[in-house]
Amino acid sequence: MTTEQVQLVKKTWRMFRGVSPATVGDLFYSKLFMDNPHLRKMFPADMEQQYQKLLDMLNSIVIRLDRLDELSEEVAAMAQRHVQYGVRPAHYKLVGSALLWTLQKGLGDEWTEAVENAWTVCYSALSDTMIKSTCLSEGAG
Ligand code: HEM
Repeated sequence: MTTEQVQLVKKTWRMFRGVSPATVGDLFYSKLFMDNPHLRKMFPADMEQQYQKLLDMLNSIVIRLDRLDELSEEVAAMAQRHVQYGVRPAHYKLVGSALLWTLQKGLGDEWTEAVENAWTVCYSALSDTMIKSTCLSEGAG
C-alpha cells in the first residue's frame, strides 16, 4: 500500500467508527447472506458478538496498517482458526465485496474512487496474507 492509501484507509475508518457496531454488523451480514445464502450456516444463530469481534479485529489492523509485520503472528493464527470454521480461499472475495459495500454505505459522500482503491488494496493484502499462511501450514503452498 502507498502512504497515501494507508492514510485514506485510516481517515475513513475513523469516520466509519462513528456508526454503531450493531448497525454495521446488520448491514454487513445482511449483504453477505443476501448475496451468498450458503454462507449463513457457517455462523452462529446469534450474531451479536460477531459484530464486535469483526470490528475490533479490523480496528487493530487499521491502526497498525503501516507496520503489518507486527501483526503477522496474530493474522496467521486468525487464518488458522478460519480454516477450522470451514472458510476456504474463495470465500475471502465474497466477504471483501460485502465489506466494501458496507463501507460505501457508511461513508456516503466520502466514498471516492481513491478511497475505494485504498480499501481494496488493504483488504487484498490482509486476505492474501491469511490465505497464504494457511496454504503454507497445510503444506500446499
Ligand atoms: C480479512 C478477513 C476477515 C477478518 C478480519 C475476520 C475476522 C474474524 C474474527 C475476529 C472472528 C472472531 C473469532 C476469531 O478471531 O477466530 C471471526 C470469526 C469467523 N469468521 Fe471471519 N474474518 C475474515 C474473513 C472471513 C471469511 C472470508 C469468512 C468466510 C465466510 C469468515 C467467516 C467466519 C466465521 C464462520 C467465524 C466464526 C463464527 C463463530 O462461530 O463464532 N471470516 N472472523
